[in-house]
Amino acid sequence: MQFKHKIIYVASEIFPFSKTGGLGDVLGALPSELRQMGQDVAVITPFYGRLSTGGYPMRLLSSSMHVGYPWAPITAEIYVSDYDGLPVYFIQRGEYFDRRFYYNTHQGEYFDNCERFIFFCRATVEWARRMDVAPDIIHAHDWQASLVPAFIHFQRRYDSFWSKTKTVQTIHNLAFQGRYASRLFWESGLPAEAWNINGAEFWGDFNMLKSGIAYADLVTTVSPSYAKEIVTPKFGCGLEGILSSRATDLKGILNGADYSVWSPTSDRYLPCKYTPENLSGKKTCKEHLIYELDLDPKLIDRPVLGFIGRLRRQKGIDLLISIMPELMKEDIGVIVLGEGNLEFEARLQEMVEDYPGRLAVRVGYTEDLAHRIQAASDIFLMPSRYEPCGLTQMYSLKFGTPPVATAVGGLRDTIVSYPHGDATGFIFPDADPDMFFGAIKQALAVWDRTEEWQEMQRRAMRTTYSWAESGQHYIESYRALGAQI
Ligand code: ADP
Ligand code: GLC
Repeated sequence: MQFKHKIIYVASEIFPFSKTGGLGDVLGALPSELRQMGQDVAVITPFYGRLSTGGYPMRLLSSSMHVGYPWAPITAEIYVSDYDGLPVYFIQRGEYFDRRFYYNTHQGEYFDNCERFIFFCRATVEWARRMDVAPDIIHAHDWQASLVPAFIHFQRRYDSFWSKTKTVQTIHNLAFQGRYASRLFWESGLPAEAWNINGAEFWGDFNMLKSGIAYADLVTTVSPSYAKEIVTPKFGCGLEGILSSRATDLKGILNGADYSVWSPTSDRYLPCKYTPENLSGKKTCKEHLIYELDLDPKLIDRPVLGFIGRLRRQKGIDLLISIMPELMKEDIGVIVLGEGNLEFEARLQEMVEDYPGRLAVRVGYTEDLAHRIQAASDIFLMPSRYEPCGLTQMYSLKFGTPPVATAVGGLRDTIVSYPHGDATGFIFPDADPDMFFGAIKQALAVWDRTEEWQEMQRRAMRTTYSWAESGQHYIESYRALGAQI
């Protein structure tokens, strides 16, 4: 039997094995969708110490694959799992991946992240090189995988194995670039010629994401609006120059949502299911969660606002904190689930004391609670400063929880704002506390008009952002690169 795949995805997360945010969700759904569309796809990802096997057995394929230069004797173990028909290859080396967290502790990034992901990229290229036939497409996601397109770009010159392979780099979040000291470039195994302003060099540092942007055959990001935003200084995080220079190869393809995991009609974490036609189960979910989180039972008949996300400035959690005293003058409840910045975590936990029974804060990462908050809340809060795509608002729409969100990136592309006749949520122009509060007040006013509110909920629940459509766009893009798929 031949060992080959037409399309290989490379990423540092894949749900249900690993996840810190939307990247994990995307990898958990998109490759499987392509497989269902008849494509021959596989995924390569790290084998973390904290990896969940999700109930999928793992099989050791190679116990000592040589990864080679720049760490001559270094080896990796390769495992494979059959994720409902999708082969997922895991790259294991304990010293790099057997850790409590994926990328950082509360003190900050792991000191050797650059080496960890140089290693991951080199091992990926090495593993793909061992296949009988080269893939048509290698698709790298975010900075952790972004040396793969760069390595292949240079190896193509002397290794005809790669001659037909095209590479794609997807940007899920431009703020995370993998920027490190220049000496690490010289250890990466990239040739000296990559050290230039149109390559891996960025203000004297080694920039891993920039390497992927520079050398991939196609660069994509996860919504059409974000693709337009990132060529501007406001959203480009310093990379607007190289992104503009690649504008003809830069595409925004909107993510989808995996409704087999996120849907109130079938969600396995909910005490009660519901549909657009019969919303009564949503109220039951709310009653249960109010009880679970020790909130005041009076809130059952008042609006409850939910927030789920990384507690970082990107997500505008500081805006929510700053308006909390004003917001709490309204007769409402607020639920926050998140982890991240220690100051935000502490501030939110202190605030719980000020609003007993009305503010619930859960610091940590809890997949099942995220589902229950989506279902139980009336209004979903997403005041992001920037949002490449955003999946949580897509989920909130499906759960009949109209979002209040900033007019950025994927939020603009997925929410129809009140007062439009087809409104599914509330968009405000800028990440500004007064504008955010104003939009919440608008949402509360509509919530009071029960019929109008329920109409909006039903429209939101009928909104569908399917992976099938996104998958079709990716396939077309791969074909445009010459892939015979
Ligand atoms: P991002 O990738 O920027 O974090 P997305 O909206 O694309 O934002 O995806 C976030 C994903 O992570 C969603 O699946 C969301 O439910 C999940 N998530 C975020 N924070 C938490 C948390 N504290 N506990 C559980 N799930 C979380
Ligand atoms: C990133 C972005 C988020 C996006 C996710 C998946 O984490 O912050 O907006 O939805 O990637 O593409």
